[in-house]
Amino acid sequence: MILSEIVSPDTAVARSVNLERDMGDEHTLKQYILTGKGLEIIDRFVSGLNGAKISAWSLTGPYGMGKSSFSNFLLSLCGPEKNDETRSALNILAQKAPDLHTGFQAALNRRRIESQGFFRIPVTSAFQPVNLTLAKGLRRSLEMSESLSKKTVKTLADRIDDLLNNDRIDAPDLIELFKETGRIAGLPITIVIDEFGKNLEFMARYPGQGDLYALQLLAEAPDIYLWVCLLNSRPLASKTALYQFLSAFIFLSALMKRLYIRKGRLSLI
Ligand SMILES: Nc1ncnc2c1ncn2[C@@H]1O[C@H](COP(=O)(O)OP(=O)(O)OP(=O)(O)O)[C@@H](O)[C@H]1O
Ligand SMILES: [Mg+2]
Repeated sequence: MILSEIVSPDTAVARSVNLERDMGDEHTLKQYILTGKGLEIIDRFVSGLNGAKISAWSLTGPYGMGKSSFSNFLLSLCGPEKNDETRSALNILAQKAPDLHTGFQAALNRRRIESQGFFRIPVTSAFQPVNLTLAKGLRRSLEMSESLSKKTVKTLADRIDDLLNNDRIDAPDLIELFKETGRIAGLPITIVIDEFGKNLEFMARYPGQGDLYALQLLAEAPDIYLWVCLLNSRPLASKTALYQFLSAFIFLSALMKRLYIRKGRLSLI
């Protein structure tokens, strides 16, 4: 007898969550278990919505820990009330932590976004500059947006394309487009950058071509809430893994220093 005759994994949960692919997927959401850590993070988010200085968070943990699953849940929570996935996420929160659910709803009400939610930008990084990842992510979210007119989407997308046509994407110009999107939509923005380690790897390989300034600008922008997910794999089995981890650590430390010490805007979880 072989093991697979006795037990087999549920294939629907046996894969990593991908934010762009799984956003809005009811099945991924329904099997999500909201953990104590998840509640703690949402609590911090509610504090941020209520005016606490910190509006950027990094989620660091090992392979399969649930970083993307949590981010997917968070993005669902931040959607428009009419979406089934948003109602499911709100129900999960209400069942698990009624007070936190009330606090979250109150924060949305205060900002008058209880029906529309946030402008959501899920981004999965690749081995490329973070500015390029962000520009592509914004473009994709604009194209999928239900809250903006086609004309507005085209105008903003054309401006992103102008940036993409340059060898290097200027961080202030790019972040201005994020802010303008929020202003035109009349909504605060939630951005999740998943697998950020790939951007860090690129920066480690090509130090002159990566730039964390865009993240600093996002973290400092009012009405933009930023989440950065980073794989922290241990044990460090190879020199490459060690190098990647150290690079990530050094870059994040630099970002922390810039944001936390000067402005108190970023929190590591
Ligand atoms: N809180 C949770 N409730 C239900 N399933 C979960 C939870 N956390 C993780 N999982 C499941 O575990 C698997 C891995 O989770 P996920 O993809 O979120 O991990 P990750 O930390 O993003 O990993 P990676 O570093 O590989 O990207 C997925 O199949 C997901 O469905
Ligand atoms: Mg993941």
